[in-house]
Amino acid sequence: MNGSALIIAIDGTFASGKGTLARRVAGRYGLAHLDTGKLYRAVARDLLAEGGSLEDAERAAQVARRIDADTLDDPYLKSGGMGSAASKVSVHPPVRAALLDYQRKVAARGAVLDGRDIGTVVCPDADVKLFVDAAAEVRARRRFEELKGYGEDVTVEGVLAALRERDDRDMSRATAPLKPAADAHLLDTSKLSIDAAVSAACDVIDAVVNATA
Ligand code: DC
Repeated sequence: MNGSALIIAIDGTFASGKGTLARRVAGRYGLAHLDTGKLYRAVARDLLAEGGSLEDAERAAQVARRIDADTLDDPYLKSGGMGSAASKVSVHPPVRAALLDYQRKVAARGAVLDGRDIGTVVCPDADVKLFVDAAAEVRARRRFEELKGYGEDVTVEGVLAALRERDDRDMSRATAPLKPAADAHLLDTSKLSIDAAVSAACDVIDAVVNATA
């Protein structure tokens, strides 16, 4: 391990359950949790609020350099529109570079970070790396239920189409594309309850913690 600071990287596809998993794992090990998707969502929110374009890499990077971590709990960030806007600003290398330092500082204190490039780029030396995925139809159904809970007017088909588009963009971008790190443990949550997924993740983490204790 890196001194006493345990770093757990949880990457995965959209609506794979990685966010809930990361929050639960952080609670179990007494670690801070950073949902790094919120950083990209906040960049998209602030950029659009000042009239900027999601295609404008330089302006998006300027916004990313002044992101206020105290605004990450804004419920508006969880909307479907912000997710797709976040995916668009996240393709710009200067935006990714601007957010690196903050993510690494959080990690250095010991944390669970979830995102798309934590195990590959942000924390390549993380103690434990998990890559979470599930069948697209299962993820679409989960996300549909979540968005309905926020009061959004959505259909499963619409959510599935948006999900495929997002997977495609996240996996095919040139910089830090979504992919499992070579040393990541793969976790398919298609048939797992959240409790079962947490338990499987903790088995992997415990094995690492016990081996280095
Ligand atoms: O995890 P999420 O749905 O909140 O992420 C929103 C978008 O942000 C995602 O489609 C791609 C981008 N993202 C990223 O590029 N790298 C990360 N570490 C986290 C999110």
